[in-house]
Amino acid sequence: MKKDIKNDFPIFKAQSDERPFVFLDSAAVSQMPQTVIDAVSEFYSTYKANVHSGIYGIGMRAVEAYEGARNAVAEFLSADSNEIIFTSGTTASLNMAARMLESRITAGDEIMVSTMEHHSNFIPWQELAKRTNAIFIMLPLEKDGTLSLNTVRAMAGPRTKIIAITHVSHATGAVNDVREICRMAHGVGALCVVDAAQSAPHMPIDVRDIDCDFLAFSGQKVLGPTGTGVLYGKEKHLCELTPVIFGGGMIRHVSAEDSTWADAPQKFEAGTPHAAGAIGLGAALSYIEGIGRKEIMAHERNLARMARRALMNMPGIHLYGPGNEKETSGIVSFTVEGAHPHDVAEILSRENIAVRAGHHCALPLMNHFGISGTIRASFYLYNTEEDVERLVAGVQKAGDMFQV
Ligand SMILES: Cc1ncc(COP(=O)(O)O)c(C=O)c1O
Repeated sequence: MKKDIKNDFPIFKAQSDERPFVFLDSAAVSQMPQTVIDAVSEFYSTYKANVHSGIYGIGMRAVEAYEGARNAVAEFLSADSNEIIFTSGTTASLNMAARMLESRITAGDEIMVSTMEHHSNFIPWQELAKRTNAIFIMLPLEKDGTLSLNTVRAMAGPRTKIIAITHVSHATGAVNDVREICRMAHGVGALCVVDAAQSAPHMPIDVRDIDCDFLAFSGQKVLGPTGTGVLYGKEKHLCELTPVIFGGGMIRHVSAEDSTWADAPQKFEAGTPHAAGAIGLGAALSYIEGIGRKEIMAHERNLARMARRALMNMPGIHLYGPGNEKETSGIVSFTVEGAHPHDVAEILSRENIAVRAGHHCALPLMNHFGISGTIRASFYLYNTEEDVERLVAGVQKAGDMFQV
């Protein structure tokens, strides 16, 4: 991993006092390198224009940059650019997919999600099932919070129409074999929707190899601006499905009798898009590619393993998730006996360490573990071994305070 990577991210200088700022909440929101901030700022200060009205100079430049960002996303996923829809984030992408697929669902069909899903990949499908009288099924997990492929194999059947599954759990770091799950889904005639919010920032993704029908991720978790995201959809689906949001920029023809739509992806992008955000997202992906996702993943896994090893040996610490023996991402979830997760996060915050605490928008998973929440440390490319040491020392301090 490149040395002094934190120097590329102005927030670390801005938030450090006499103690360097340790940011361990990248699973919620990642920080932005200066190159991304510059790309966004350049759009606003030199060529801000609507990407639907590019007849004049800056308008054409804005269209070029916006479509350039789409090409960058397509390359990042090994997709075609006409399969990339810009959205405001994973939540918007998954809600859009659930609305788009409504026409494919009839009463009695099964829609499956796993128990480890973020609420964003849970509620849209639960609501779709309610609207269509379909059966909403939650795939149960193993004790350690992982999903066994045998469970999917046993539960997916001819009535299954959609399997919506996360690639990586945001709460435990467990990694799902989405390629195999897509294969199983297709084997029973179902579609497979992948929530890549926690994988796209950290590992190479090839949608052709995974063979997913849809895949969603958030720009703000891949070093990009907030309020940006992507919905990938296989070309054949995007051609067939009808839009769910209507307005300017997505039509072929409008008349009193009827209206018709532009081709995908434009027909799914009604209204003025967040062009600055998309352009920033494109710059973020090129920053990531400059380092390499394999290298990023190896670096984060190493830090997470180091943190787990240290925490595991501390009295009163309970770790959740698959642990160091199985494949995980750079996420470590734990509790401190006798302390509320929020209290531990507050103590760490006093040490200038930012972690997430709570149910992480994964109440079914918390229920599976029989707890109300955890403390979550999530590592990214800018974290270091010193950050792990600071975290461990901070947790030790919290443990001492709560007399573990
Ligand atoms: C796995 C997963 N899915 C969906 C989301 C929702 O992402 P956003 O809030 O960017 O829409 C998150 C955010 O934490 C996530 O971790």
